[in-house]
Amino acid sequence: MNPYLKHDEWCIIEEGFIPENTRASESIFSIGNGAMGQRANFEEKFTGSTLQGSYIGGVYYPDKTRVGWWKNGYPEYFAKVINSTNWIGINVIVNGEELDLAKCKVQDFRRVLNMKEGYLERSFIAELQNGIKLAVKSTRFLSMVDSELGAIRYSVKPLNADANIEVHPYLDADVHNEDSNYGEKFWEVVDIKGTSAFSYIVSRTKKLDFHVGHAMRNFIHVNGQHQNVQPQVNTSAMYVDNRFTINAKAGDEVTLYKYAAVISSLNHEKGTFPKVLEKLIDTAVSKGFDKMLDEQRNAWTEIWQHSDITIEGDVAAQQGIRFNIFQLSQTYTGKDERLNIGPKGFTGEKYGGSTYWDTEAYCLPFYMVTHGQKVARQLLLYRYKQLGKAIENAQKLGFTDGAALYPMVTMNGEECHNEWEITFEEIHRNGAIAFAIYNYVRYTGDKSYLVNFGLEVLIAIARFWAQRVNFSQEKGKYVMLGVTGPNEYENNVNNNWYTSTIACWCMEYAEEVASYVKSTDPSKYAELTKSIHFDESKEIAKWRDIRNNMFFPVDEKLGIFLQQEGYMDKEQILVKDLDPKERPLNQKWSWDRILRSCFIKQADVLQGLYFLEDRYDTDTIKRNYEFYEARTVHESSLSPCVHSVLASRIGNVDKAYELYLRTARLDLDDYNREVKEGLHITSMAGTWISIVEGFGGMRVRNNMLTFNPLIPDKWKSYSFKVWFRDNILKIMVTSSQITINNESGNAITLKIYGVEHSVPASSSISVPVQKQIF
Ligand code: BGC
Repeated sequence: MNPYLKHDEWCIIEEGFIPENTRASESIFSIGNGAMGQRANFEEKFTGSTLQGSYIGGVYYPDKTRVGWWKNGYPEYFAKVINSTNWIGINVIVNGEELDLAKCKVQDFRRVLNMKEGYLERSFIAELQNGIKLAVKSTRFLSMVDSELGAIRYSVKPLNADANIEVHPYLDADVHNEDSNYGEKFWEVVDIKGTSAFSYIVSRTKKLDFHVGHAMRNFIHVNGQHQNVQPQVNTSAMYVDNRFTINAKAGDEVTLYKYAAVISSLNHEKGTFPKVLEKLIDTAVSKGFDKMLDEQRNAWTEIWQHSDITIEGDVAAQQGIRFNIFQLSQTYTGKDERLNIGPKGFTGEKYGGSTYWDTEAYCLPFYMVTHGQKVARQLLLYRYKQLGKAIENAQKLGFTDGAALYPMVTMNGEECHNEWEITFEEIHRNGAIAFAIYNYVRYTGDKSYLVNFGLEVLIAIARFWAQRVNFSQEKGKYVMLGVTGPNEYENNVNNNWYTSTIACWCMEYAEEVASYVKSTDPSKYAELTKSIHFDESKEIAKWRDIRNNMFFPVDEKLGIFLQQEGYMDKEQILVKDLDPKERPLNQKWSWDRILRSCFIKQADVLQGLYFLEDRYDTDTIKRNYEFYEARTVHESSLSPCVHSVLASRIGNVDKAYELYLRTARLDLDDYNREVKEGLHITSMAGTWISIVEGFGGMRVRNNMLTFNPLIPDKWKSYSFKVWFRDNILKIMVTSSQITINNESGNAITLKIYGVEHSVPASSSISVPVQKQIF
């Protein structure tokens, strides 16, 4: 734990400069706007430990894979979202000495991430080696309105003497990725131009030929007055700067406004870059910093309007959930269906910035409920557009006839993960992609998605499962051999309950959707089935046969589903009996010991009970929850949220709260001492799920919202927003009552504790909180 941040409801605040925390804070204070992101690196030079990170959505590098023992079927590359041109840099030189926080005395250091309004601020006093005391203040943001623009206001004020101040805002394309597999640099410059009014660099990735363009225009003010000074321009192969020199009196505030534009070849023709950049910079300059910041505030007000969660009586919890919502909202906006949500978002290099099953299994509900149907649909379309690649991916592994295996990790639909036990065996990911379609349609009622896109994906996934099982003569049942479930502390197991269950569910849902599309849009159905050679009667009969004769491991005595065949052969030890010194297991134990132990990395059987909850009664959920929770070490940040929802489901609010706390402030308090590598963006959505689906007990059943709320003892009240079809609702829970405020112009009927209530437009209803909810 590293609790160096102040508790505050709307801001993340760091006070005091602790060099060892620099990398962690760079992650925590990251800003983004869905199209790009920027770690909280200092603008001025910093020779201390830092991870420079400026990332552009959809621009990646196919870094050559590094594996010990090559296996056929491995992908050739690992896609990385790459650190690109440093556009925030501003060198400051005072009486000839460069400002560098690693080399001077720092006082009153304060960094604030204003989550309500969407900007980052930093202020400090630096005492340089030459004796000058300098007050510095910077504000920067990435515009949520013009997603290709960023702006910085950077002020320096000599406090104790007159000083010659040089300010050098620059663009630097000579950057690298720390996690580059072979130390390779990924960029080369195509075009560079420096003038005192407009400078830019266009660079390209050495592979795949992505082009990115960065431009800047800079203005100097002294004590609020614009100065008509011409900067000196300095350009080299990959770097351009503007050098302003001001002779400042003690107490004069010298302020630089740096406007920046960032574009990529995803959105612009390569030959047009200089023109596009100049136009963007003109837009920024004509609006001006203050107006851009006002627009930023308004954009964030709008986002919070739909997504805020309040928690009364626990500031740390309030800050934690807002931080999660803020980071999720600045990672993905749904404006571009080619983008997605990497486990670290735009805050670090780990995980390559690519798409995992995390998106469908954990993130979709957050975006669907708080950012609306359109945004959620974009996430689905991302996978739809990659269906061809998923079919190719399955073909590479020997599957045929239109079977699709979506990748474990991807940027463009191709697999980039290469550890056989995950790449080839962690195939349950296909189930999450199908489940997301179901979840989306259940919530939005948008069945047109099934007709136009969903069915095609579902058939391809069902085809995969039908080929992946085999019939065991010995058991007289279908079996699924050689898989890795969500619990990656088991590999190459047979009959993982979750994988087999979700596989059968996929085949069932594909059949249901096929019949729906056939009856509602026969011509579309005929067109699709012809184009994908779907032999309806034969294939559906096969799916049914598999579903009806699938082997599922269970322990009759304990009344639980078994994670996989043979699970009970393991020595049964409970997590509570583990010596805390041995944890986390993945750092303290050999892999061999982990694999043979009964300890579970993350929700596995429970993931299935969470997804398919309506199929199981409360006792079954309770027995399985109690058995598996006692054996789960939660060494994936994705794990506690699922357990928390189930704990709420069975009415164990204390345990639900304990599990909730494990993710809510995971990054802010740096539980795992790894926040320096980037934030756990996808698990942040899990925290949101723990509140809305867990404590709030929100579900959609038969096109109707239902709530079964409970409240942790520590909270006086909490509230969350729900954007359901044409309604915006605010659900507020106190220890005595639940109030639902219908903020929209349409009446809605919903259920609270199983009882139907109508909430007229623009009004609210309240009912008493019940202790016994199921
Ligand atoms: C988890 C996976 C997850 C990945 C990326 C791993 O530690 O086990 O389920 O997809 O992290 O978040």
